[in-house]
Amino acid sequence: MLSNNEQLIAVIGATGQQGGAVVRALQAGSQFKVCALTRNPDKHRQLADEVVKADLNRPGTLKAAFERAHGVFLVTNNWEEGTDELKQAAAAVRAAKDAGVKHFVWSTLPDVEAISGGKFHVPHFTGKAKIDRIVKEAGFPHHTFVIAPFYYQNLMGALAPQKQADGSFGWAVPFDPDVRCIHMGDVRELGHIVAGAFAHPGEPGNGEYLPLVGDFMSFHEIVDTLNRQGHKFSVKQVPKEAFAALFPGAAEVADMFRYFQAHTYLGSDLSDRIALANKIGGRQPTNFSTWARMNFPA
Ligand SMILES: NC(=O)c1ccc[n+]([C@@H]2O[C@H](COP(=O)([O-])OP(=O)(O)OC[C@H]3O[C@@H](n4cnc5c(N)ncnc54)[C@H](OP(=O)(O)O)[C@@H]3O)[C@@H](O)[C@H]2O)c1
Repeated sequence: MLSNNEQLIAVIGATGQQGGAVVRALQAGSQFKVCALTRNPDKHRQLADEVVKADLNRPGTLKAAFERAHGVFLVTNNWEEGTDELKQAAAAVRAAKDAGVKHFVWSTLPDVEAISGGKFHVPHFTGKAKIDRIVKEAGFPHHTFVIAPFYYQNLMGALAPQKQADGSFGWAVPFDPDVRCIHMGDVRELGHIVAGAFAHPGEPGNGEYLPLVGDFMSFHEIVDTLNRQGHKFSVKQVPKEAFAALFPGAAEVADMFRYFQAHTYLGSDLSDRIALANKIGGRQPTNFSTWARMNFPA
């Protein structure tokens, strides 16, 4: 039997936000060797102990990538054009099973279709939830689900403040900004939970759901927090049709926000699972105010 620091964890998405967080947390824990998987290994030679080429759209590459791996972390990226998350995840699960992987960690999201009775159409949530059954039924000795929150980082990236028609700088959102409904967090902290699950599979390794939640806020509370730190941002509600015209994919994002308003991001009260995730991750995740002070300079 290999000791933990000889065991290898293969990380899909290692060059991205979620997978990158997993690589860094595993390295900081120094309990496992880390194999970073990417379609462009030559660009990322220093990323981990091993850097191996893998493409979720080319299942043949996954076989070699998962060889010798004790654990696999999988995230799929629906935003990349041409991505079929179900097909990619099924191929990864099959390859991991064939390679004898012992612990499979899948980054999932709530089933919006089921939670809302079909009212909201958010394929990048529901599509991930549909993959859970494939992971469960594969029969790995251990499997764990992690749920990434609404990244704080979105507010400086894809959903950064914009100049508004009234001349102010801020956000036009397709839902009621006064409703507290967004489970949020610093995506870099997802890694602690995933690394904790690999290190101590007993409790979370039987199909537990581990959500990372650093804060739970309304959009108004987000803006108020930033403005207390010296910003002068605005937020106002706009019709979903107006929001949907703002950028490619905005119609799905509008439905996602409207689902948050009706059901919250997580869709139900998962406080016991949040507490378990914090225990497995070994820390209380950073709240928005603290994160913003460090990362969102006025
Ligand atoms: N933004 C949010 O608030 C939020 C919240 C919860 C969940 N999510 C979900 O997070 C996912 C994106 O994760 P992220 O934020 O970590 O993305 P990211 O930073 O954009 O990175 C994407 C990663 O996916 C890898 N990748 C893409 N296609 C691949 C393929 N065919 N084969 C192998 N690797 C592939 C890329 O690897 P290479 O390019 O190196 O090959 C890269 O490392 C999305 O599915 C989104 O729905 C986002």
